[in-house]
Amino acid sequence: MDTASRSGAARARKVVWVTGGGSGTGRAVALAAAAAGWDVAVSGRRAAALEETAAAAAERGAAAMALPLDVQDGSAVAAARTAVVERFGRLDALVLAAGLNTPRRRWDDQEMAVFRDVVATNLTGPASVVDAALPDLRASGGVVVVISSYSGWTLSPGAGVAYSATKTALGSLVRTLNDQEGRHGVRACHLCPGDIATDFLDQRPEVPDAAARASMLTADDVARTVQFVLDSPPHVRVDELVVSPVRR
Ligand SMILES: NC(=O)c1ccc[n+]([C@@H]2O[C@H](COP(=O)([O-])OP(=O)(O)OC[C@H]3O[C@@H](n4cnc5c(N)ncnc54)[C@H](OP(=O)(O)O)[C@@H]3O)[C@@H](O)[C@H]2O)c1
Repeated sequence: MDTASRSGAARARKVVWVTGGGSGTGRAVALAAAAAGWDVAVSGRRAAALEETAAAAAERGAAAMALPLDVQDGSAVAAARTAVVERFGRLDALVLAAGLNTPRRRWDDQEMAVFRDVVATNLTGPASVVDAALPDLRASGGVVVVISSYSGWTLSPGAGVAYSATKTALGSLVRTLNDQEGRHGVRACHLCPGDIATDFLDQRPEVPDAAARASMLTADDVARTVQFVLDSPPHVRVDELVVSPVRR
């Protein structure tokens, strides 16, 4: 444990690092956490979007920092983890919301270069962040919320080959983490939301209209669920949650 971590031992406010924090679900998660008394770090590729989220979190009383990065870049992820611990002295939670899909998502139209991109973002990305932060999670008895998908829970025919495969694999990532790291107090949740009305839908082959989006989950609905997991007592693990819009 480094000096910053030791100095953080007396720090009362918990710290969550959110990937995909510049938009949609990740942004809503960061703001809900800020409102609940957490400090936040947000990561994604668009620096301006992250700064906007950090400013909005600060308005809700949080200490907040924007850490632009591509989750596919393991060195950048490791450097961001160092920056979080240097700034806050502790890290209590990860919410891994950075994700990617593609309009060409069927076996008969997909491109393998894009398949690899989806795997690198949706599967290797979350693994890299957990790998970098594991010492901090052990120190804090931390919690990891992996924003997976309904397609990671059961077959969703429209979700896509690469997307469904990566989201399903996140269930294994969570289970191995819980199996191996539970003895160190680390807890992880495989969170599987159905349709959420965010910009992510623009990646569909047929983009839903406003009427379709009106019956979907909102980013705030998912953030509320995430906050429930974040605020669960240290001896409680929420292994998996499936959250769906009632009307589909
Ligand atoms: N919308 C849905 O219907 C739905 C349903 C179930 C699950 N999900 C999951 O929810 C998560 C959040 O999506 P959302 O719906 O909130 O849509 P969103 O607003 O588009 O969020 C996706 C986020 O991922 C970030 N991101 C993408 N590639 C990245 C990369 N290589 N490195 C770092 N950040 C990256 C994006 O930021 P930058 O572009 O700035 O990098 C963006 O903030 C995703 O994992 C998605 O699979 C969505």
